[in-house]
Amino acid sequence: MPDVVLGIETSCDETSAAVLVRDGARPELASLVILSQDIHAVFGGVVPELASRAHVTAIGPVVERALDQAGVPLSAVDAVAVTAGPGLIGSLLVGVCYAKGLVAASGKTLIGVHHLEAHVFAPTLEHPDLEPPFVALIVSGGHTLLLDVPEWGRYRVLGETRDDAAGEAFDKVASMLELGYPGGPHVEALAESGTDRFDLPRPMLAEGFDFSFSGLKTAVLYTVRGSARLDADRADIAASFQAAAFDVLTAKTRAALEHTGYRTAVLGGGVACSRTLARRMAERLEGVARVVVAQPRLNADNAAMIARAGWFHLERGERSDHYLDADARMPWPGLERPPVPSGATG
Ligand code: KG4
Ligand code: ZN
Repeated sequence: MPDVVLGIETSCDETSAAVLVRDGARPELASLVILSQDIHAVFGGVVPELASRAHVTAIGPVVERALDQAGVPLSAVDAVAVTAGPGLIGSLLVGVCYAKGLVAASGKTLIGVHHLEAHVFAPTLEHPDLEPPFVALIVSGGHTLLLDVPEWGRYRVLGETRDDAAGEAFDKVASMLELGYPGGPHVEALAESGTDRFDLPRPMLAEGFDFSFSGLKTAVLYTVRGSARLDADRADIAASFQAAAFDVLTAKTRAALEHTGYRTAVLGGGVACSRTLARRMAERLEGVARVVVAQPRLNADNAAMIARAGWFHLERGERSDHYLDADARMPWPGLERPPVPSGATG
C-alpha cells in the first residue's frame, strides 16, 4: 500500500510530474506541474525529435518542482509511476529512463502505466466517490474510445474511431481555418461567436458505437474552399463543425448508457477540456445519467492521472521490474475487445 507516489508523464509534448499522498483510504493530489512545449505551435503539430529533446531538458526541474510544491522529499516517496505507452517513443523513453534512474538510485518501487487507462482515472482525483460501473468516453488527439467499465481495471471496448481521432479532427479543422495549434481550444473559442448554420454530416450517427471523423473533416474542407468570404464565415464553420462532432459524441454516449443500463458517464482526454462538450453532454444525458468530467488540467496530458492509475495497480500488488520498456503501441492491460465487429445490438 503506497503512501506517496510520484507520477511522471512524457508521452507526447507535455513534461509533467505530480505527487499523490495518502489521505485516509484515498490518494490526494499534493502537487501537479505541467510544462507544455510551445515550440510545436510554429510547426502546426508535434515534432517528435524536438519533443524528446525538450523532455530531456525539462524532466529534472519539473520533478524537483513537483516534490517541492508537495513539500515531500524524494526519500519519502514510496513508488514512481511512469507512462510506459502508448505515445511517441522518443518522448516515452525520456520519462521511462528517468524513472528507472530514480528507482535504481533510491530503491523505490516502479510501476509502468498505460496512458489511456490513466485518462479514465483522472476524474477520480476530483470526484473520489466515482465508482464503476460507468461508460467512459476517452477523446484525445490520438484516440476516440467508448468504453464499458464494469469495475476498475476492466475496460470493454464498445466503439472506437475507424479513422481520425476526435482531437485530430479539431486540430485539422483549426488548421483549415488558419487557427493555432493545438486546434481544439481555438475552435471552441471561435465557435462561441458563430452559428451552426452549415449543414455538415454526422457520420455513423445511427450505426453502432464506432466513430468516423474523416468525412466530416472533408465536408469542412469543401465548405472552407466554397466560401467566398472566409473571414465572415470562419466562426460559423467552427460552430457547425463543433456541433456536428459533439452531436455524434453525445448521441453515442447516450446510446452506450441505454445499452449498458449504467447511470454514469465519464469524460476524459484532451477533448474533454472543452466546456462546451461537458455542457452538451449534460444536456443530452439529462435524466439518463450523471456526467463526470474533471477540470481541464486533469484531462489534458498530466502526471497526476499517471500517479493515480499507478496507485491503483500498486494497491493490487503489481509493480514493474527493471526490464520495464517504453512501448509506443503498448497494449492496454484489462482491455477487452468484442469478438464480433463492434456495434449496438440493443
Ligand atoms: O489527451 P491530449 O492532451 O493528448 C493526447 O494524448 O492526444 O489531447 C490533445 C487533443 C488535441 O487534439 C486538442 O486539440 C484537443 O485535445 N483539445 C480540444 C480542446 N482542448 C484540447 N478539443 C476540442 N475542444 C477543446 N477545448
Ligand atoms: Zn492523452
